[in-house]
Amino acid sequence: MTGRKVLVLGSGGREHALADALLASPSVARVVVSPGNAGTATPPAGLPPGKTLVSRAGAPLDVARDERPDLVVVGPEAPLTEGLIDQLSVEGFLAFGPSRRAAALEGSKAFMKAVAARHGLRTARFESVTDAGAVEGVVHSFERAPVVKADGLCAGKGVVVAATHHEAIVAARDMLAGRFGPAGTTLVIEEQLVGQEASVHAICDGERAFVLPAARDHKRIFDDDRGPNTGGMGTYAPAPLITPALAQRIERELIQPAVAGMAADGIPFRGTLFAGLMITPEGEPYLLEFNVRFGDPETQVLMSVLDGDVAELLASAARGALRPEVVSVAPRHAVCVVLAAPGYPDTPRVGAAITGLDRAAAIEGVRVYHAGTRVEGGAVVTAGGRVLGVTARGSTLAEAHDRAYRAADTIEFAGKQMRRDIARRALSP
Ligand code: AMP
Ligand code: GLY
Repeated sequence: MTGRKVLVLGSGGREHALADALLASPSVARVVVSPGNAGTATPPAGLPPGKTLVSRAGAPLDVARDERPDLVVVGPEAPLTEGLIDQLSVEGFLAFGPSRRAAALEGSKAFMKAVAARHGLRTARFESVTDAGAVEGVVHSFERAPVVKADGLCAGKGVVVAATHHEAIVAARDMLAGRFGPAGTTLVIEEQLVGQEASVHAICDGERAFVLPAARDHKRIFDDDRGPNTGGMGTYAPAPLITPALAQRIERELIQPAVAGMAADGIPFRGTLFAGLMITPEGEPYLLEFNVRFGDPETQVLMSVLDGDVAELLASAARGALRPEVVSVAPRHAVCVVLAAPGYPDTPRVGAAITGLDRAAAIEGVRVYHAGTRVEGGAVVTAGGRVLGVTARGSTLAEAHDRAYRAADTIEFAGKQMRRDIARRALSP
């Protein structure tokens, strides 16, 4: 079979879901995931003859030089902010993702805020702070206790939504004193917004944007949004919170001006622009943050509601000539329930044997995306904080929810953590 060869860089549930969607793309023959996990190392049941999925280790550029892929898709943010797309492009690879400069939309919250201010994107009022002496005055200039954010990447830990002004002051001084190293030498201190959050992803080619259905993540470790923040404990899409009218406003007022503004600034954005939004009780969409890559576990549900040639969609964006018509949004719903290791998010304990994977995957509409897993002595064991993203499709949200939880309950490992309330709010608002 002739067809594209695609290299996916990363090792999480996001990358497994991307690999799955790319393999299902008519234009694709071979998907290589590097380094991948136990899931990406095993071709899915029913893979058409002539299609292959493999995982391999190695430095990204070495793997690319060896595989000579027709398209490279970079999963996580760190290599994007470090300029991996620029390096791949210099060597002649077609690579989907933003340049180092454009990736600063995620890599520097102060940069993101400056772009928002310059191009009129609605976002929380903020002040940048670099000096511990200024902290107290800035914090008290906000009526409600503000949110304190380290400027740089901190693997999701650099944001403190303070309950009191005192807590905000302590958090800010802690960051400036070096808690997150250089990522925390500049802080953004901003107004605390209330409302409901949504994740909106757009595939961008530097000028145009194709906006995907909205998803909702569940960031806290425990039910009812209690406990510390995590990378994300579960998602669903489409999110009924984002009505068609609101989706139009988000596209017109936030996504398109951001893409046009970056182009006008001479830093065109190619790749996935992921807007983290707060919808206030008045129904106003505020931009909380930009990410410059697919969300995890948003990708698991987004790829479940797309049909068509995802590989050509991403390749066309990377070429600078977006072809949204090669995919379509299916009239489906998807729910992803994350199974996490004991001790996550602080100190996950790993190495436990996982059972029930095959029985779970046999449930109609279910795909079990691997994240922190590896193969040890022929068995699949836990190897990271977020272990699996049990994802189900359904013709209704209720059906997808029921399938995802039946599958999630079938899988066991010592100390398994999962939330019981993924999508509950949308099912009984
Ligand atoms: P981030 O790491 O920027 O994704 O922020 C993590 C989480 O902090 C977000 O998902 C929100 O739940 C919360 N957050 C960030 N900024 C604000 C804000 N201005 N007001 C309220 N919550 C916020
Ligand atoms: N799930 C949120 C993120 O990927 O940033």
